[in-house]
Amino acid sequence: MSIAVVTIDGPSGAGKGTVARLLAHALGFHLLDSGALYRILGQAALSRDLSTTDVPALVALANQLTVTFPYTASRTDVSVDGEVIGSVLRNQAVAEAASQLAIYPPVRQALLDLQRRMRRSPGLVGDGRDLGTVVFPDAHAKIFLDADVEVRAMRRYQELIEAGQTVELSAILRDLEIRDIRDRTREVAPLVPAADALVIDSSEKTPAEVLAAVNEYCRTKGIGI
Ligand code: DC
Repeated sequence: MSIAVVTIDGPSGAGKGTVARLLAHALGFHLLDSGALYRILGQAALSRDLSTTDVPALVALANQLTVTFPYTASRTDVSVDGEVIGSVLRNQAVAEAASQLAIYPPVRQALLDLQRRMRRSPGLVGDGRDLGTVVFPDAHAKIFLDADVEVRAMRRYQELIEAGQTVELSAILRDLEIRDIRDRTREVAPLVPAADALVIDSSEKTPAEVLAAVNEYCRTKGIGI
């Protein structure tokens, strides 16, 4: 049997990252935060004054990336070329750049290979937009985690405030709406639930409640005990 993969897709702020980490921790699996890969490129583009439309330069960058996601039950780190890079990936400018460059098929293709190489024993939990539809269509369990946009904006707002950033809730809501439309309507690998995904609306659920539902579903797929 192939190495187990659980995919958790959905829009920004639905709680994918937290649930993916807690599930990976409970199962002892590796973790893939695919959004961070797009954010690394976004951050590199911003810091090197590259355009997010400079596809050849972005592909060259993607092909050089060595990324791992060391995590504990309470936090996920991103390590690039052996160096942990901090909260720099979490800001709104980086998220916007990531969403912009994510529309280009050659960029997605370069990151596709990188993501598939992360499928290692004993298993992988990954979160993103297209993991169940494109990256791991043969995943053993697929979840699509959604939530109302206002709820997602509030969660992101609290996250950024806790990280010490100065942000406006209305600006976050607007940015999320713009990103949602771009991510859902792009031609390649748009954000849609896989036909065989379990859809969960987390608007009125705590992370623990979502995790319980995900765990139960994974057990029906033979993952976990
Ligand atoms: O999950 P996130 O908010 O960190 O993702 C940032 C952007 O990266 C998102 O707006 C679109 C892009 N992305 C993608 O196109 N495919 C993925 N699997 C993950 C993220």
